[in-house]
Amino acid sequence: MAKKIHKFKIAGSPVFVGQSALEELKAHLTGNFSNKEIIFVLADENTIKHCFPVLTSFIPQLSSAATIVVSHGEEFKTLETCERVWNEMAVAGGNRRSLLINLGGGMITDLGGFAASVFHRGMDYLNVPTSLMGMIDASLGGKTGVDLYSLKNQIGLFSASKGVYVWPGFLSTLPHRQLLSGYAEMLKHALIADATFWNRLIKIPMAVISNWEDLIIEAIEIKGDIVNKDPEEMNVRRKLNFGHTMGHAFETYSLRNDENPLTHGEAIAMGMICEAYISYRTIGFSHEQRDEVVKQILLNFNHYKIPTEAIDELVEITNYDKKNEKGRLMLTLLKGIGNSVEGQKCETALVREALFRFTDFGRLVE
Ligand SMILES: NC(=O)c1ccc[n+]([C@@H]2O[C@H](COP(=O)([O-])OP(=O)(O)OC[C@H]3O[C@@H](n4cnc5c(N)ncnc54)[C@H](O)[C@@H]3O)[C@@H](O)[C@H]2O)c1
Repeated sequence: MAKKIHKFKIAGSPVFVGQSALEELKAHLTGNFSNKEIIFVLADENTIKHCFPVLTSFIPQLSSAATIVVSHGEEFKTLETCERVWNEMAVAGGNRRSLLINLGGGMITDLGGFAASVFHRGMDYLNVPTSLMGMIDASLGGKTGVDLYSLKNQIGLFSASKGVYVWPGFLSTLPHRQLLSGYAEMLKHALIADATFWNRLIKIPMAVISNWEDLIIEAIEIKGDIVNKDPEEMNVRRKLNFGHTMGHAFETYSLRNDENPLTHGEAIAMGMICEAYISYRTIGFSHEQRDEVVKQILLNFNHYKIPTEAIDELVEITNYDKKNEKGRLMLTLLKGIGNSVEGQKCETALVREALFRFTDFGRLVE
C-alpha cells in the first residue's frame, strides 16, 4: 500500500507530512533543487547523531552534503552561533545558489532560517523538523530568528522556507521531556481554535500516545489556517501567542537562573496557566474552564516553583515582549476553550496578580 502524504501550503511554503515525507524531499532534491551548487545541512549535536544517519539512509546523496553542527539548546540560539554558521558557509564557498537544510528542532529551524535568509542577501532553505515542537509549530509559518542576551526572538525576520518535510519517525529518538515540550504547543493550538481537538487530547494521557501522526496533522491544520489568514502577524496570527508573553518571561527567567532550565514548551505551559487566569479575570473565561485548563496542564507538567522575589523580575521581562504596544502588554486571551481573542491590553498589576495566584494553582490537582 502506498504511504500517505499530506500536503499543505503555509505562508507560501509547501509542507509535506507523513511516512513518505523524506521520499518527497529526495525527489525535490533531484528535481527543483538539482541546480544547487552546494547543499549544507545544519544540525545540532543531537540531531547530527540521531537524525542525520536516518536522513542519509533515505537520501544517500546527502551523505556528501556539507554539515554544520552547532551546540544544542536555547542558549545557543544566538547571533554568535549564526556567525559560526555564516563563517562555515563562506569558507566552504556558499552563496545564493546554495541550499541550507535545517535538520533539528525549533532552535535549529529558527536559527538556520534566519542565517540562510540574510546570508548573501538570502539563500534558499528547507526545514526538516525532528522535534514535536518543530513539526507542529516552529518549522512552519516563516518566523525565523535568534535571542538577544536571553531575551527571546528579538532579532529575526519573516522568511518562507522553500519546503517543510515532516517525518514523524524522527520522534522515536526524541527524549520524553522534549516530546512533552511540543505537546504544550499542541494543547495551545487546541485551546485557541478547536474545542473538539482539545476534548480529543484530554481523553488520552500524553504518556500513552503512540500514534502522533494524526495529532500532528490536526495541529498543523490549525496552525496553517491561522497563519494563512495573516502571515505577517498583523491580527489573527497573534492568537498563536496565547501563553507566550508570560511563557517567554518564565523561559528567560529560567535560562538566567536555573541550572537545568525549563524547555520552551514547559515555559509556555506555565504561561498558559497565567494567561488562562487573566482571561478569567478580564473577558469572561469561566471559572470551570479555567480550572479544566490548569488541571490538564498540571497533570502533564510540573508546577514551576517561583519564589515571591522572582515576580518583579518576571514582570520586568514582560516589558520587553515584542508584542507590547505603547508600553502595554497585548495578550491573546480565551473566551472559551477553542475560542480566543487577540490584541487584549493587560495592565502590569494584573500580570503581577496572575503570578501571585500562579503559586496557588498547584492546589487544583492535589
Ligand atoms: N518560529 C516559530 O514559529 C516558533 C514556534 C514555536 C517555537 N519556536 C522556537 O522553537 C524553539 C524550541 O524548539 P524545540 O523544542 O524543538 O527545541 P530544540 O530545537 O532546542 O530541541 C530540543 C532538544 O531536542 C533535541 N532533539 C531534537 N530532535 C531530536 C530527535 N529527533 N532525537 C533526539 N534529540 C532531538 C535537540 O538537540 C535539543 O536538545 C524555541 O527556540 C522557540 O522559540 C519557534
